Amino acid sequence: MNDLLSKIIEKNRHLTSKGKVASYIPALERVNPEYLGICIADMKGKLHLAGDYGQKFTLQSISKTISLMLAIIDNGTEKVFNKVGMEPTGDAFNSIVKLEIISPSKPLNPMINAGAIAVASLIKGEGPEEKFNRLLALFRKICQNEKLGINKEVYLSEKETGNRNRALAYFMKDVGIIDGDVEDVLDVYFRQCSIEVDCVDVARIGLFLANNGVVLETGERIAEEKVAKTIKTFMVTCGMYNASGEFAINVGIPAKSGVGGGIMAAVPLRMGIGVFSPALDEKGNSIAGYGLLKDLSEELDLSFF
Ligand code: DON
Repeated sequence: MNDLLSKIIEKNRHLTSKGKVASYIPALERVNPEYLGICIADMKGKLHLAGDYGQKFTLQSISKTISLMLAIIDNGTEKVFNKVGMEPTGDAFNSIVKLEIISPSKPLNPMINAGAIAVASLIKGEGPEEKFNRLLALFRKICQNEKLGINKEVYLSEKETGNRNRALAYFMKDVGIIDGDVEDVLDVYFRQCSIEVDCVDVARIGLFLANNGVVLETGERIAEEKVAKTIKTFMVTCGMYNASGEFAINVGIPAKSGVGGGIMAAVPLRMGIGVFSPALDEKGNSIAGYGLLKDLSEELDLSFF
């Protein structure tokens, strides 16, 4: 397996120069675009590694999967989906357009920024710190990594410059999707996006979802099977944003990308995959990471379609 991973890394390396590192969050721009790494965590608890798998990056939108899980654990499915829809969008991940057009207003799904901010507002806790710490504790269990924390530079950078997210959040406050203090809600969201991980952590998130809500290493059930399946379904329909349709055709695995360059994939009852390469395509997905997953899916016959 490690030979196969090294082979597909070399095959896709040229793609790292075809994309662009995210620059709209200034701290994300300061990263080497040539990094390329992969980790597979299999159902026997074994890790398969290649390339820059130990390189650190921030979760960004990959965090939206587990924050949705926590919001459902805290409130139940019905309350969460009263506030956030279940349908894909053909729009960019940070688009504002549908919020005003749809009546009554509701973000289309929990994987776009508007939906994830609404989800963050539903996490229980006294203030933003407690809410975030509950989410972080969940990630630490799932990743089997007590050291997980945030990258402060990325957090502060996004907090300072995240005006598009502020616009989405204040609009949602105005129409009653978000209750409470908008800046507090955004603080939880910015922190969750800044959680620092490597490919191993991300593969373990994928494995946890592939294993339907049970942490494989400890046997602890964190979420009901139905909740894990709901999240994987969102990954298929919305996980790669407005490239989700073509990703489903080309790769055929539930996956969630982040603008930090990571992609988390869950192959049901087979494996979790974490890939990292920070150069992005025009839709905000890791360009070489996408290539790795496409080749891996073909080589190991992973598509479930
Ligand atoms: O809110 C943002 O724009 C970022 N913190 C996360 C966006 C993201 O990762 C989109 N992913 N491809």
